[in-house]
This record gives sequence, C-alpha cells and structure tokens, in this order.
Amino acid sequence: MTQPTYDRVSIWLHWLIAAAMAIQFATGWLWGIYERGSEPRFILFRIHIVVGSVIFALALIRISWRLTHKAPPPPAGMSRATFIASKAAHGLLYLAIIVQPLLGLLTITAFGKSIGRWPRDLHMILVNVIAAIILIHVAAAIWHQFVRLDNLMRRMLPSRI
Ligand code: HEM
Ligand code: HEM
Repeated sequence: MTQPTYDRVSIWLHWLIAAAMAIQFATGWLWGIYERGSEPRFILFRIHIVVGSVIFALALIRISWRLTHKAPPPPAGMSRATFIASKAAHGLLYLAIIVQPLLGLLTITAFGKSIGRWPRDLHMILVNVIAAIILIHVAAAIWHQFVRLDNLMRRMLPSRI
C-alpha cells in the first residue's frame, strides 16, 4: 500500500507557497475596491509586498531543494504526453514564483522605475497567465482525485498512512 510521496520539506514548501500565492491574488485584486490613500488599501498593499517577498525567498529555497531531491516517479499508467504536460506546468509554476516577485520588486524600487514601466505592465499581464496555469494545475489535481481515482494528491500531503 505504500505509495511514493514527496519528502516532507517539499510538501511543506508547496503548501506554504500555495497559501502565500492565495494571499497575493486576494490582496492584489482586493485593494482596488478601496480609495487611493485609504488605510485598508495601504495595509493590503503592505501585505502584498511582504508576502510576495517571502514567496521569492521560499522559491529560492524550494528550487534549490528540488534540484537536490528527486520527485517521486510518475504514477503507473500515466501517458508520456500527460507526464510531459505536467512537467511543463510545474516548470512554469516554478518560473512564476521567481519572475513575478522580481517584477513586483522592480515595480516599487527606484532602480526598477528607472528602467521604465514594463516591469509593472508585465506583472499585471502575468497575474492572469499565472492564475490560468494554477487553475489548470488544480483542475488536474481534482481530475486525478475524482476521475482517475489514483490518489495522486496523497503524494503532496503530509500524512503517511
Ligand atoms: C489548491 C491548490 C493546489 C493543489 C490541490 C495542488 C496539488 C498538487 C499536487 C497533488 C502535486 C503533486 C503532483 C505529482 O505528484 O506529480 C503538486 C505539485 C506541484 N505544485 Fe501544486 N497544488 C496547488 C497549488 C499550487 C500552487 C499555487 C503552486 C504555485 C507555485 C503549485 C506548484 C506546484 C509545483 C511546482 C509542483 C511540482 C512539484 C515538483 O515535482 O517539483 N501548486 N501540486
Ligand atoms: C508571486 C507573487 C505575486 C503575485 C501572484 C502577485 C499578484 C498581483 C496581483 C493579483 C495584482 C493586482 C493586479 C490587478 O490590479 O489587476 C498585483 C499588483 C501589484 N503587485 Fe503583485 N504579486 C506578486 C508579488 C509581488 C511583489 C513581491 C511585489 C513587490 C515587492 C508586488 C508588487 C505589486 C504592485 C506594486 C502591484 C500594483 C501595480 C499597480 O497597480 O500599479 N507584487 N500583483
């Protein structure tokens, strides 16, 4: 009954970053409803910057960890095309948690401002691209759980039953 899983560190980093990403979308999409210069807008903005910077630090740790620790082998019966698609999606998600915080940091710093508006514009475009990839990622996890019934989710959960 033992199914190979990700190691504990990978699992915790995955869920910590996933939760932090939820905070990023929530804050980024919510502050617009408050007036410019208002207290709630300022607080949401500060949370966005702090949590986004934490994501960047965790992403560096996570990618270094991943490069030195193997993922469990693909579940039995997974087609080559699905395997490649999953690796591509995962690669893009890793890229997202590095590039998006960097663009955010460029947007708010003097150095970033000196190179033009493109970091901010790209940050805004990538918001939607990343949201779409995450949606596909979560849909794939749900599909595995409830359609393929292969319990793939267990590989990314801390319980070892
Ligand atoms: C409710 C939300 C989420 C669910 C249910 C979920 C579920 C999963 C599962 C089950 C796996 C393991 C796949 C496998 O065994 O091959 C996985 C891997 C992964 N997830 Fe998520 N995930 C979620 C959110 C996120 C978010 C927001 C990110 C964005 C950074 C993310 C990034 C990744 C990456 C990069 C991997 C690949 C790990 C590796 O092989 O290195 N996930 N996810
Ligand atoms: C992976 C991490 C991040 C995600 C997912 C993310 C997501 C978002 C979202 C959803 C918005 C609102 C977009 C809209 O109004 O339509 C936004 C805007 C913004 N983000 Fe981020 N963000 C991240 C990291 C950061 C970091 C680290 C910083 C700064 C250090 C930052 C700075 C900004 C700024 C300044 C804006 C507003 C730009 C403007 O309205 O002019 N972001 N981000």
